[in-house]
Amino acid sequence: MSGRLEGKVAIITGSARGQGEAEARIFAREGAKVVVADVLDEPGQAVADDIGDAATFVHLDVSSESSWANAAKVAADLGGATVLVNNAAILIPSAIEDTTLDDYMKVISVNQIGTFLGMKAVFEQMKMSGGGSIVNISSVDGLQSKNGLISYSASKFAIRGMTKTAAIEWGRFGIRANSIHPGGVNTIMGNPMGDPAAEKEPYQFHAINRIGEPEEIAHAALFLASDEASYVTGAEISVDGGWRAGLITPGLPGCEFTTAYGYA
Ligand SMILES: NC(=O)c1ccc[n+]([C@@H]2O[C@H](COP(=O)([O-])OP(=O)(O)OC[C@H]3O[C@@H](n4cnc5c(N)ncnc54)[C@H](O)[C@@H]3O)[C@@H](O)[C@H]2O)c1
Repeated sequence: MSGRLEGKVAIITGSARGQGEAEARIFAREGAKVVVADVLDEPGQAVADDIGDAATFVHLDVSSESSWANAAKVAADLGGATVLVNNAAILIPSAIEDTTLDDYMKVISVNQIGTFLGMKAVFEQMKMSGGGSIVNISSVDGLQSKNGLISYSASKFAIRGMTKTAAIEWGRFGIRANSIHPGGVNTIMGNPMGDPAAEKEPYQFHAINRIGEPEEIAHAALFLASDEASYVTGAEISVDGGWRAGLITPGLPGCEFTTAYGYA
């Protein structure tokens, strides 16, 4: 099937690289006009140039309301946003006691406030178009957490809740809102050193025992953005290789690990 996003105008935040880039490329291939939006101007412009006529780059700092007004205008000039992927995020890992208020607020400003401002910025355009699809990228860390993720996990749990509020408030305008919860993904955020060992070792007890690739998240976003998901709203879609289902427990039957602490 192709043309799954024919006639749609999609703003994808944080699309200069990583998962956002994969979404921009796949969405354009499926017929959408894509607004590649990022704070990284050069790589963002390069992604848009490489995609071609279907893509327009705009400088967007998702934590700034005026920057959102500018990005929304670009989408309006293309016919009006009918898809928004709130994908941009930052991660500053640190123990609770070492986390400064400044660092905490930085993460909340981009991940949580950025998602809030994005939804607000496109609302009128989606309403005028008779509907739209908002895809908010949360994380497995928006469903559970890890040490070192006090600000990140807070922001990702918030995105999960905000998505449901939007789904409930805006369903009457034909606007759907869903969250995606990726597990580990092979990007600068998920594998900063590009280390091949980091693609396997941390995932040895996962149902799918490897890191995910950006395209694997982008395909879930594609489904939610498309009219194929016309009855899906307020949902949490885990794309995490089974992480959220639970982990393999060595020593119990049904796995290849026969001892609690080592390999067979
Ligand atoms: N990589 C993982 O393991 C993983 C796991 C779960 C969830 N996620 C989530 O997936 C999404 C995409 O992450 P990724 O893995 O592609 O990471 P990434 O770091 O490769 O990409 C993030 C993009 O967001 C942009 N960005 C950062 N701050 C911005 C701002 N203020 N305004 C606009 N753009 C900004 C960056 O420039 C970058 O292009 C994020 O929401 C992230 O939290 C990632």
